[in-house]
Parts: sequence; C-alpha cells; structure tokens
Amino acid sequence: MLHVDVVILAAGMGKRMNSSLPKVLHPLAGKPILLHVLDATYALSPEKICVIFGYGGELVHQTVGDRPDLIWVKQEQQLGTGHAVKQALPHLADKGVTLVLFGDVPLVRSDTLKTLIEKVREDSLALLTVELDDPTGYGRIVRDPVSNCVRAIVEEKDASPSQKKIREINTGIMVLPNRYLSDWLDKLGNTNTQGEYYLTDVIAMAVEAGIQIETANPASEWEVVGVNDKAQLAVLERAFQQNIARKLMEQGVMFADPSRFDVRGQLICGNDVEIDVNCIFEGDVRLGDGVKIHANCVLRNVTVSDGSVIHPFSLIEDAALGKNCRIGPFARIRPGTQLDDAVHVGNFVEIKNSYIASESKVNHLSYIGDTEMGRQVNIGAGTITCNYDGAFKHRTIIEDDVFIGSDTQLIAPVTITKGSTVGAGSTITRDTPEGQLTLSRTKQMSIANWKRPEKTRG
Ligand code: UD1
Ligand code: CA
Repeated sequence: MLHVDVVILAAGMGKRMNSSLPKVLHPLAGKPILLHVLDATYALSPEKICVIFGYGGELVHQTVGDRPDLIWVKQEQQLGTGHAVKQALPHLADKGVTLVLFGDVPLVRSDTLKTLIEKVREDSLALLTVELDDPTGYGRIVRDPVSNCVRAIVEEKDASPSQKKIREINTGIMVLPNRYLSDWLDKLGNTNTQGEYYLTDVIAMAVEAGIQIETANPASEWEVVGVNDKAQLAVLERAFQQNIARKLMEQGVMFADPSRFDVRGQLICGNDVEIDVNCIFEGDVRLGDGVKIHANCVLRNVTVSDGSVIHPFSLIEDAALGKNCRIGPFARIRPGTQLDDAVHVGNFVEIKNSYIASESKVNHLSYIGDTEMGRQVNIGAGTITCNYDGAFKHRTIIEDDVFIGSDTQLIAPVTITKGSTVGAGSTITRDTPEGQLTLSRTKQMSIANWKRPEKTRG
C-alpha cells in the first residue's frame, strides 16, 4: 500500500469574498467549504492531513475541530503555493506521496482523487488537469510536442502568447513524491511576475530529474472549480444542488423544478415522492413512498412515512411523522414531536415536544406543547396547552377519543380523560372525568333595556 499524506492549502485571504468570515468557512449546501474538502479527504484514509491556514485560522480550526490525523500548520505570510506546502514538510513522511488540495475547491470527488493517486508510485508524480473552453487565469500544462509528455506548468501571468492558447489547465490538485519534495521546495525561487514561490515550478524540476508525470481528469468540470467570490460560490452551490436533484430524479423523485430545490445534508426518498418548488431539506431527512411536499416547506432532521402530505409553507424540525399524515399549510412542527399515522395538523398550528396518536386532528390555530395525545382526538380551533408557568414546563395528557371545543386553554399539568368533551371557550385547570362534558364558562345573559351610547351633536 502506497503511503499517502495530504496537504490542504487554505491560507489565502479570500479578499474577493468581501467578508469577515474566512473564505473556507463560507457554507456550500449548508456546510463550510473546507469541510467538503476534508470529507473527500477522509474517504481516502490518508496517514496525515495537514491544513495550511493563515487568515482567520483560529476560527477555521475551531469550526472544523480536532482529529488525531489532522494537523494544523500556520503559514505566517502567504508567499505562494510552494511556500505553503513547504510549511507542511516537517509533518510529511519521507516515503510515499503527498496529495495537494486547495481548501477553496470544495466539490472534488474522492473517486477522482483515488484515480489520481492510483496513477503514481513512490517516485512518480500526477496532475489533475482539465481542458477548458476559457482557460484564462489558470496555470497552463505545457506538453512536449513530440512525446506529449508534460514538460512544465506556466502561470497565466508568466505565459507567452502561444502558451496562453493552451486549453489544458492545472487544477492545482496534484500528487508529489515525498522522497524528492523537500529538495524541490528548497530550490524554488520567486523570480516571477507575482514574486511568489510557485508550487507549479516543481514540475519542471521533476522533468529535469527524469521523473514520470501522469495526468488524470475529473469526471465533471465543477469538481475543480475554485471559490474566489460569492458569484462563484453561488454557481457551485447550484451545481451541487442540481447534481443531487439529478440523482434523486434517477431514483424516481418528481420535482416541479429541480433548479428550485436545496438539500443541506442528506435526503433519502422512497418511491413516487413529489417535491414542489422552493423546499429546503436540512440535516437528515427521510421521505417514505408517495410522500408529497408542497411548495415552500422546510424540513430539518425529519422522517415522513409513506403517503403523508405536507402542504405549503410548513416548517418541520426534529420530528417523526407517521403514514398518511396531513400537515399544513402554514404548520410549524418543532423538535421532539412524534405523530402516528393519519394525524392531521392544520394551518397556523404549532406543535412542540409532543406525541400524537393515530387519527387525531389539530386543524386550526392551536398550540400543543409538551403533550401526550391519544387516538382519534379532535382539538378545536384556537386551543392552547398552557405548558409554562414562568418557571417550569408541565405536561398535558389528552387521552383517546377526547373532543376539545374551540378556544380552550388547558392549564398543565392536567389530564383530559378518555372520551371526555370540553366545551368551547373553557379554561381547564383540573382533570376532566371520563365520558362527561366539562366546561368552565360564565353563563350567557342578555340585558333587555340596554342602550348603546350615542355621540351627542352640538
Ligand atoms: C494556482 C496555481 C495554478 C492553477 C490554479 C488553479 C500555483 C502557482 N498556481 O493559481 O497553476 O491553475 O491555482 O486554481 O500554484 N495558498 C496558500 N498560501 C499561499 C498561497 C496560496 O495557502 O501562500 C492557497 C490559497 O488559499 C488557495 C490555493 O493555495 O486555496 C491557491 O492559491 P491561489 O493564489 O488562488 O493560486 P492561483 O493563483 O489561483
Ligand atoms: Ca485561485
């Protein structure tokens, strides 16, 4: 097995982001771009991963956290990509190879990196290159006109007019033999237009030493696109999302419009799932067979079982929904909620940390919090569980087959016993007896000779 170390260059300022947040912490699909690079890296199980950081490094380190195989190396001054890799030298093995990645190239796939690594041995070198219609700004791959072997990489700013016409570019991702690396990096100069120590100059040194240089290409161009400004970040975000949408469509998911859809985590779908426009899926979301998500819904860490329908503008977080439920429009389901099969939660209803058994309905304008609700319960419009006394939260128990009339407050802790009915407009402070009608309402009265006040003229 070839020994592989990884160096991730992430010390650049990212000036063009115009942000106080370090570039590599900007989110793509809800996750800092450096974490995308790290996830692709972890999939390779390298021996060591050195992250070269500079600007905002402490925050980057804090956000990513520690791992035994992760080494944080500070590059005090950003003197070029060659200088950056040099900072990692004390941590690299003297055998095997080093894979160089950029912290701001977030979408490179681990399969592409594996292919690149498979091209090399202990003493050869591999470059990830791609042909672009418009290669402006990139280092060009200069090949021998006869043998077609790679001879050098020339930066745009140092390229001759004929070299500028070359469309094969350096993605920056390369695999270098550790055995020669420190020698080459020591020899780097900075006499070029940018006055930087270019990592790319080691290619010509390798050619000089007669070392074989292999190349590989990514499956898609977006894998090697870097983030330099927010416009590029937005383009990559869409590329990432459309890629997920395409995979889901291959599995049978039907989108009203795959370009108006966002996953920030993992979305797993059963058969015949339908998703309307502007829905956002965060964390871990699972949708069962035949689930329909209507427009403008946000689901975060949610399981929705077969046949359930989420109507427009619903927000559901950390919850599990049974089969054939009907939620929304305008429903808010908060963390700790579990709904059994065929539960209905209607418009302007908020449910928090509650369990609701099958076939119960909370259809309009209600708050149900810290509640355990039985089967076939009907909660009238405007019902509120008053679960908080200012200091403590209390639970409300609503047993099977209860009917709660509209505009009722249930002051917790309280139990609404099986089969009881609560009259509309009640404030319930004590447990209700089974099967009876309970109400707390002032008696209605009428005053016969009462007159409305009238404005006097004059
Ligand atoms: C580099 C390559 C170029 C390639 C292009 C691909 C060199 C000399 N040039 O150019 O051939 O086509 O990437 O995008 O390598 N960084 C540091 N410390 C430094 C300088 C850079 O950590 O001192 C990091 C940056 O944060 C960034 C990466 O290295 O992640 C690339 O640096 P950048 O200055 O953007 O290189 P380019 O000029 O784009
Ligand atoms: Ca760049």
